[in-house]
Amino acid sequence: MRNFARFMAFVALFTTVVAPLCAQTAGERKLEVFSWWTSGGEAAALDALFKVYKKQNPGVEIINATVAGGAGFAARPVLQTRLAGGKPPDSWQTHPGRELLDQYVGNGYCEAITELYKNEGWDRVFPKELVVDLLTKDRNTYAVLVGIHRGNLLWYNTKLLEKNGIKVGNQLSFDQFFAACEKLKAAGIPALGVGDSGIWASAQLFENTLLGVIGPRGWTALFSGKMQWDDPRVKEAMKLFAKMQDYVNPDHSALSWDQAIKALTEGKVAFSSMGDWAYGEFVKANLKEKEDFGWVCHPYTDDSFVVIADSFTLARGAPHKQAALAWLKSIGSKEAQEAFNSIKGSIPPRTDVDRAKFDAYQQWSMDSFAEDDLVPSCVHGEAAPAAFEQALNDAVAKFVVDRNVDNFANALVRAAKESQSRK
Ligand code: BGC
Repeated sequence: MRNFARFMAFVALFTTVVAPLCAQTAGERKLEVFSWWTSGGEAAALDALFKVYKKQNPGVEIINATVAGGAGFAARPVLQTRLAGGKPPDSWQTHPGRELLDQYVGNGYCEAITELYKNEGWDRVFPKELVVDLLTKDRNTYAVLVGIHRGNLLWYNTKLLEKNGIKVGNQLSFDQFFAACEKLKAAGIPALGVGDSGIWASAQLFENTLLGVIGPRGWTALFSGKMQWDDPRVKEAMKLFAKMQDYVNPDHSALSWDQAIKALTEGKVAFSSMGDWAYGEFVKANLKEKEDFGWVCHPYTDDSFVVIADSFTLARGAPHKQAALAWLKSIGSKEAQEAFNSIKGSIPPRTDVDRAKFDAYQQWSMDSFAEDDLVPSCVHGEAAPAAFEQALNDAVAKFVVDRNVDNFANALVRAAKESQSRK
């Protein structure tokens, strides 16, 4: 956790809820939970949370309000309309950090759940740095973390690489990566599987490549305004990202992220740079690590952990407040966190879980989280305000077509200035 001070340099910066945490005693028989978890692995993991809740709260009907679209690109506008219209779901999925604290808490849409933390003794089992820095504003805590994903991974189809004489060790350099891409290209195989309907998956490929070039210190400098978006090192990352476009599947814009992962498992593409929710897809498809798929850190990001965490809120004016509080209590429990994360691919934020219940990949991810530099994701709402996140997506959408480095850099310089001036 030693890296949290730096991690929190970007994330700017307890209302009492006393409640009988049982929906039935309050006569509530419904609970509406809003999320974007609709892929195979995501839906299965969400269902694991629902099962634990139903066991503890029999008789409460869960309204599973999902809006499909990875990273919430389609769900967030729908949620925004509901919140602005005074029709909130009881609880919704959000990324902690800027997204939770600026967009939702800052606009008065969330009710604090500080008392829940006290009553459940969560101060002892959730890392203080996570709760205080990512979920708390003006001493009030606003969400419960369910899982922590690592964003900077390169997944691959083991058999396809073997067949093409490509070996991937414990680390991969950009040169080795491009050499593999060339070999695959010669064999008529798109090396890099991207499913960027909604564009964010390409923005994530760029985010991971950028981190590989500027490193975690550069990341802090860039997002704190000390390094500019037209810095030569940023441009170097843009050039590498442009070069990657030569190896991307031609149908990328028609595919969702999970369809791109499916293409990887089917041997239609070889690699995919994606967060470890991809691991959830492999688990769901009963695929075996090493035999069917493998993973390595995105080039030169070995000592960084790009944090993409998931949490749930309590709506201000929640239609079923007691049922929602019972939900938050349930998803914060050890039982729910173990069940959910082993399916989702993320690691549990709780520190008292049974490590043996997790696969080798997740045990590795737990170690990485403890030892590596923690880097907040921009694409997933932690490092920068929503307006900048959107500007990055827009700039990436243009760049994958025109590959004009100067235009890309200038657009981001302008967007960074605008978001600075709005502070
Ligand atoms: C969320 C993950 C989700 C992924 C793809 C991320 O923003 O944090 O939970 O699986 O998007 O939908």
